[in-house]
Amino acid sequence: MKTIIEPFKIKMVEPLKLTTVEQREQALRKAHFNLFQIPAEDVIIDLLTDSGTSAMSADQWAGMIRGDESYAGARSWFHFENVLRDLTGMAHILPTHQGRASERILFELTGGPGKVIPSNNHFDTTRANIEHSGARAVDLVIAEGTDPRNRHPFKGNIDVAKLESLIEEIGSERIPLCMATVTNNSGGGQPVSLANLRAVREVCHRHGIPLFLDACRFAENAALIQQREPGQSGRSARAIAREMFDLADGATISAKKDGLVNIGGVLLMRNDALALRANDLLILTEGFVTYGGLAGRDLEAMAQGFVEVLDEDYLQYRLRSVAYLGEHLLAAGIPIVEPPGGHAIYIDAASFCTHIPPRHFPGQALVCALYRHAGIRGVEIGSVMFHSVDPDTGETVHPPMELVRLALPRRVYTQSHIDYTVEAMIELAAQRDSIRGLRIVESPPTLRHFTAKFTEI
Ligand code: F0G
Repeated sequence: MKTIIEPFKIKMVEPLKLTTVEQREQALRKAHFNLFQIPAEDVIIDLLTDSGTSAMSADQWAGMIRGDESYAGARSWFHFENVLRDLTGMAHILPTHQGRASERILFELTGGPGKVIPSNNHFDTTRANIEHSGARAVDLVIAEGTDPRNRHPFKGNIDVAKLESLIEEIGSERIPLCMATVTNNSGGGQPVSLANLRAVREVCHRHGIPLFLDACRFAENAALIQQREPGQSGRSARAIAREMFDLADGATISAKKDGLVNIGGVLLMRNDALALRANDLLILTEGFVTYGGLAGRDLEAMAQGFVEVLDEDYLQYRLRSVAYLGEHLLAAGIPIVEPPGGHAIYIDAASFCTHIPPRHFPGQALVCALYRHAGIRGVEIGSVMFHSVDPDTGETVHPPMELVRLALPRRVYTQSHIDYTVEAMIELAAQRDSIRGLRIVESPPTLRHFTAKFTEI
């Protein structure tokens, strides 16, 4: 059989409210054309994020009931620790409430003024935590990674030559660690190859720099390695994931992605001295070291999620659903970041709405049009989110790409939901000239994409 089916059946359902165009027009106006301000109930298909939106399995829910809520040394903690040790081989495993809590602890300990932390592309919260410590975050993704049409199989790779030049230029003592984001969310959900991780590790270790993974989507990265990297197709995703972790000295994980849970995170490291200090910070703001800001039931759900996510049938279905969405959009002539990555499809809004210049936010205009037309919520990743001002000239600097991300929650939507999304995009493409640009009427000083108010032009 050629059809790849959802490898699960549905035991519990959550009804979707099917709204009309008129109702959505009203909701859009009330939200001042900002989809973060629209109640989720008024969204039919919510592709805002794949984070914390997974459907849990019957075994995960069973674990929630079994959860041991003891303060110290709960049974659920030992279960979680065993699963994570087996998966990653890391000596120190710290539970946190989500990815950014792991980042905050790591960079409070390793960052600081004068320090520089390279990555392929830092995710926003990672960058924000690095900058909050006074350090500088530097993106060193390969050139292919910023070209939407380039079909390089590993567009998340770090440019090793650029990494070497950075080390030479500023000295290894100013680089407390190097990160690799797997998959590279800010760069289109693109994977990093094992060959690249090995090369980066070699350079880092030659200069005494630890290599950390931002491993939120480690299983999807492993599955993409299995599909795309020469010599890897015969290995299990679990074995590949273990090799990724074996190449690293530590990792931050938001379990809200490949942990298949609604809340949870992990901080991993091998260095004993660093772990001792991290434990102190964990206790200070998250919780005792055997629960770290979570309930025992959350640890059970994570332990089970980290096992299920490496199931080969699940991963095949997962990558196929993302590729299916991407391929159907491409076949209809809708420009996306190619090839499809692990968790989302990124539409090239600048090419889709050529009549809307970056200053009138083509991505935000498309996100609003897609919601109005079909009740689908995506997210703008362009001039609204990555707005910056040149300190010398005072002029607005636009990011290199104006994208709309359609992120697929795990195990939540079926193929017909994806077909509906494709149909909506094709219908929008036929009337793209009627999509109107936007102007900001009110905006907070930082993180404006969450609360800014817009009006149509
Ligand atoms: N790193 C990456 C690569 C991420 O994608 C995220 C979250 C984080 C770190 C932070 O994790 O949310 O648990 O604190 N990404 C979500 C998204 C929010 O929509 O892409 P968190």
